[in-house]
Amino acid sequence: MEALERFWEQLLPREELRPLPLEGSAGVVFCGMGGSGVVGSLCARLLEEKGFEKPLFVVKDYRLPPAVRKGYAALCVSYSGNTEETLHNFRQLLERGIKPVCLTSGGKLAEEAKEAGCEVHLLPGGYQPRFALGFMLSKALLLLGFDGERLKKAAHFLKESLPRLKEKAQKVAERLYGYAPLLVATPLTAAAAERWKAQINENAKSPAYAVFLPEAHHNEVMGWVNPHLREAFSFLLFEDSQDHPRNLKRVDVTEALLKDLGVSPLRLKGEGEDYLQRLLYLLHLGDWVSVFLAEAYRYDPETVPLIKGIKERLSNA
Ligand code: PA5
Repeated sequence: MEALERFWEQLLPREELRPLPLEGSAGVVFCGMGGSGVVGSLCARLLEEKGFEKPLFVVKDYRLPPAVRKGYAALCVSYSGNTEETLHNFRQLLERGIKPVCLTSGGKLAEEAKEAGCEVHLLPGGYQPRFALGFMLSKALLLLGFDGERLKKAAHFLKESLPRLKEKAQKVAERLYGYAPLLVATPLTAAAAERWKAQINENAKSPAYAVFLPEAHHNEVMGWVNPHLREAFSFLLFEDSQDHPRNLKRVDVTEALLKDLGVSPLRLKGEGEDYLQRLLYLLHLGDWVSVFLAEAYRYDPETVPLIKGIKERLSNA
């Protein structure tokens, strides 16, 4: 909770960072998993909204897209610096003649990146990766050429919104208690939904699912006609005022069809004066929902024994 209280502070630019030369690049590739990987999802969407017109890849797998070649700017984010997939991608990038910029608190990534002569930005240690998102995102955005003042403004907006945001989060958590949250997100809210899902999974130890419009209108919705299974879910609809008008129409249609099925979904959108603020507001609302849910379920939000166990099993395999 203390880390969450200071999320806004984590976002504040701490130093002058030299932005990556994106103009001369062929595109940008982001590599990272889980709490670190969401940095890529957020940055890619924000870059697109800023008008960046080159290819953007967010890689959460062992396989780098074949299109990624010399000339691409690359950002490898791993809080621990020991995540297998991210290390694998880092090494593949080097093989393709790309020197990724790395954001990490240490581990093998810091070691190997320094050895390879890559730019490394060290993050403060002692956090669970997902509770250090503000540090990672702030550095990543500055490296991508986002204006530090804009980031500062967004951070202060979150600080001022915090009491209201927490109150709202508490109400949402009460509503979600006992259900698996099913988040239906639009393209501009997809990265926030990804974070909500992961935060609810890891902090509250609850299943949660995120599905995306417009694709969900071509498959997902049919699963909702099954009353026995539908009852397990609590439905949330995410939207952003700048989403494509047809996607906003689709949110209305989704609400109407759920109501016809006897379900009242909760509609949520971010607040703020620009897309960055709205995205961060919505995302941070989910952070608080997840810790309030953890409290209600009596779980420690920090520990993730199964994730740790998987990493241990794989390191011995
Ligand atoms: O939040 C978490 O603990 C996880 O989702 C981790 O971020 C994920 O396992 C990847 O680890 P790291 O962020 O250290 O690369």
